[in-house]
Amino acid sequence: MDIATVDELLSTTRAVRKRLDLDRPVGREVILECIRLAMQAPTASNAQDWRWLVITDADKRAAIAEIYRRVGAEYLAYAAKEASDPQTQRVYAGALALTETLARVPVHVIPCLDNRIDNSNLLTAASAWASIIPAGWSFLLALRSRGLGSVWTTMHLAREHEVAELLGIPDSATQAALFPVAYTIGTDFRPAKRPPAETITYWDTWGHPVGER
Ligand SMILES: Cc1cc2nc3c(=O)[nH]c(=O)nc-3n(C[C@H](O)[C@H](O)[C@H](O)COP(=O)(O)O)c2cc1C
Repeated sequence: MDIATVDELLSTTRAVRKRLDLDRPVGREVILECIRLAMQAPTASNAQDWRWLVITDADKRAAIAEIYRRVGAEYLAYAAKEASDPQTQRVYAGALALTETLARVPVHVIPCLDNRIDNSNLLTAASAWASIIPAGWSFLLALRSRGLGSVWTTMHLAREHEVAELLGIPDSATQAALFPVAYTIGTDFRPAKRPPAETITYWDTWGHPVGER
């Protein structure tokens, strides 16, 4: 394995919002390739109950974007103004900008589980969510390796039923996210600033991060 390339992929797959190319078409095959790779992700009991809803119809994308905007725009404008540090401010400003461009992002992808998640029990909830979230992340990594980008979003889930009705998603399925997918404008993404791993890693017992020893 070429570890430098793998590390670059893992450390530079960013939330892309402003650098999505709204004018470049995205073919069906590249989306399917990324889904094929995502299907190598783990699922509890090997259930493999992922479902991928790919939306390219312009009217449907506009309707999803309108639902997304209604949920997010006001909150994000407020959050962008109130954020104390510049990194968080940029995140909210970017997220707010996405509410304006979402309809024009050429492909929307909703990763789903063909199952209704019971969130009342930690074991079943964790098993169910972890049967779709790793696949979702693999999908985003596969996009990045092919010059495309996206951002993990959950905002529309506040109105999941409106989106479900629009797209014919049955009550027996669970939507996990919404990925706006496009080629990226340039591919020169950088690792984000994160605290040293030693400050958040405990060893053998909770507390006293290894960096403090
Ligand atoms: C569970 C989850 C939900 C998110 N929801 C949204 C969202 O609704 N809208 C959005 O623009 N970004 C959303 N994000 C993206 C985060 O803001 C982003 O990952 C974070 O700011 C870090 O940026 P980076 O991935 O480039 O390091 C979400 C991320 C996660 C993991």
